[in-house]
Formats: sequence, structure tokens, C-alpha cells
Amino acid sequence: MAAPLAASAEAALLLLVLSVLAAVALRCGDALSLDLYDESCPEAEAAVTVAVRQAMANDRTVAAGLLRMHFHDCFVRGCDGSVLLDSTANVTAEKDGPPNVSLHAFYVIDNAKRALEALCPGVVSCADILALAARDAVALSGGPWWVVAVGGGTGRLSLANETTALPGPTASFDQLKQAFHGRGLSTKDLVALSGAHTLGFAHCSSFQNRIRVPAFQGAADPSLSPSFAAALRRACPANNTVRAAGSGLDATSAAFDNTYYRMLQAGRGLLSSDEALLTHPKTRAFVALYAASQEAFFRAFAKSMLRMAALNGGDEVRANCRRVNSS
Ligand code: HEM
Repeated sequence: MAAPLAASAEAALLLLVLSVLAAVALRCGDALSLDLYDESCPEAEAAVTVAVRQAMANDRTVAAGLLRMHFHDCFVRGCDGSVLLDSTANVTAEKDGPPNVSLHAFYVIDNAKRALEALCPGVVSCADILALAARDAVALSGGPWWVVAVGGGTGRLSLANETTALPGPTASFDQLKQAFHGRGLSTKDLVALSGAHTLGFAHCSSFQNRIRVPAFQGAADPSLSPSFAAALRRACPANNTVRAAGSGLDATSAAFDNTYYRMLQAGRGLLSSDEALLTHPKTRAFVALYAASQEAFFRAFAKSMLRMAALNGGDEVRANCRRVNSS
């Protein structure tokens, strides 16, 4: 197993707790394992970490890209690496479905896969590489480190039209709850995993429904703080033509911390789906807990990531993450 990225005594304790949680989660479950590659590819985790670390040294935004990619993989056909497949002449893949066109950092997975195929060909699946890379992206951004349960293979099917199953930015609390419960994830998982929005960026189109609301004669959603709404309206003018325009999802969007929850409480949550977490007493209480305690957030986030990563995957180990093996 690769050396954990975290160093302090507090982090070591957290790591121990998370290892126990992982073991408990696995006992309830399936074919995933905590040490599958210990003998078959002992350098597997380290190789992924090197690929993520190298990419982040050039571009911090790949961390957010990898984390979101893992979520989008797991919510469509389970965590089977289907999001990594390229479209073919006959099939438009998930990658080219509307919610995924803004995914990025696929090259990091390609780099890790290339390194692993050189070290131990045909052993480590693309789905596992993505789960490990998402974990490393979080840890290298200052967030928790956890033991990833590996052994999830990849699937052979990836269909763009199935990406409509991903919750969208205007989803209500009930829709979010349904999307998570439908995959065996809880309301607590919903709040903890939404904390991923501590990293990264959203394009204007993802929050335009909040800054110019037809029902309010084009004014901003009143649940937004007025100064925050004004800044967003400046970043995204009505006649915006800059495709890259948008906003960080929280004020410290390169650091994995609990700022997201504190901003949410202050009327500075960016997406409607973020704001929706305040509309129900149970989720509001989790938001308050994670806003008050970064440690509680980190523990819950790692646990929920393990639960999400356990969503059923496929059974193949691809040679190239972008293509199924030829049969
Ligand atoms: C709860 C339902 C969720 C909804 C509706 C949602 C929606 C979105 C949207 C609309 C964006 C902005 C995309 C853009 O404009 O380019 C975004 C970004 C992001 N989301 Fe989510 N998301 C959800 C949950 C999650 C989860 C569970 C994770 C990971 C565990 C996640 C990780 C991210 C990350 C890291 C970004 C930033 C991406 C980047 O900067 O490249 N999201 N999300």
C-alpha cells in the first residue's frame, strides 16, 4: 500500500479510523479488497500518486477534474470506468453527454495507466485508477486520505444518453435525495459528497438560473447574498460570450477544506443544488456540523467516498482506458 500523503498525528488517527471504516464497509460487501494489488502490482498506488502529483504541479485544477470524473463515473452504470471510454463511430459515449463535456484531466488517467501497464500489464483496472486518483487529488489539495477498496473492473458500455441520470445544477432537494437514495446512498452522503464543491469551478451556465431569475424580473435569487450575487453578475454578464467565464465553487477553490459549508450558510453557495441542502432540517443540520468542524467533514467525506466507490463496477481490465479490449 502506498504511504499515506498526510503527515500529522491528527491525520494519522483519522487514517486509522478510515481504514477501520473501509474494512467494515468491505465486510458487508462484495469483491472489492483493501490489498488486492499488494502482490500483483505493489507499486500500483504509488504510480497513480506520481501521475496525479505531476499533473497538479503544472495545473492545480486537475484535482477538481479527477474528483468530479469519479463521481460522474460512479453515478452512471456504477464505478466501472465507463466515463473514460471515448466515443466510437457507432456509439456516442458518456464523455460526450451534456453534463460531461466540461470534464477534464483525462490525460492524468492515461498517464497513470501507461505507467501501470509498463509495471504490471493487465492488472490494474481503469476504474480503480480513477478511484485512487480522485482520493489522491483530494489529499494533495489538503483534504483527507483514505484507503481505497480496489478490485472494481471496467465495463464495456458507455452511452451518452445515460448521463441524464446525473443530477443537474438546478436539482431540488427531493431530486437530489432521489438520485442518491436510488444508488443506496444516504442524505448524509449527499451533504458530505456535495462538499466536493470545495474544489473547482462552475461555468456561468451552471448558475445562471440564480443570478437572473425571470420570476424576479431578472433580479438575483434572494437567497444569495447581495454582494455575492453582484459579483456573479459581473463575472457572467447577460450578453456573456466568454465560454470559460464562471466562478470558483467556493472562495478557496484550490484547497480542500470546509469553506464550502461556511459559504453556503452565508448565502454564498453557487449552485441551486448546493442551496437545496439548506431547505431541509436534516441536511441543514449536516451543513452546520461540517461548517463548524472540518474534521467532521473530512471523516464523513472519506466515508461517503468509500460508499460511493463501492457502487457496482464491471469485470474487465482494459489495456487503454479510452477503449474496450478487442475481443
Ligand atoms: C449533489 C449533486 C451534484 C450536482 C447537481 C453537481 C453539479 C455540478 C455542476 C453543475 C458543476 C459545474 C460544472 C461546470 O459548470 O463546469 C460541478 C462541479 C464540480 N462537482 Fe459537482 N455536483 C454534484 C455533486 C458532486 C459530487 C458528489 C462530487 C464529487 C464527489 C462533485 C464534484 C465536483 C467538482 C470537484 C466540481 C468542479 C469541477 C472542475 O472544476 O472541473 N460534485 N458539479
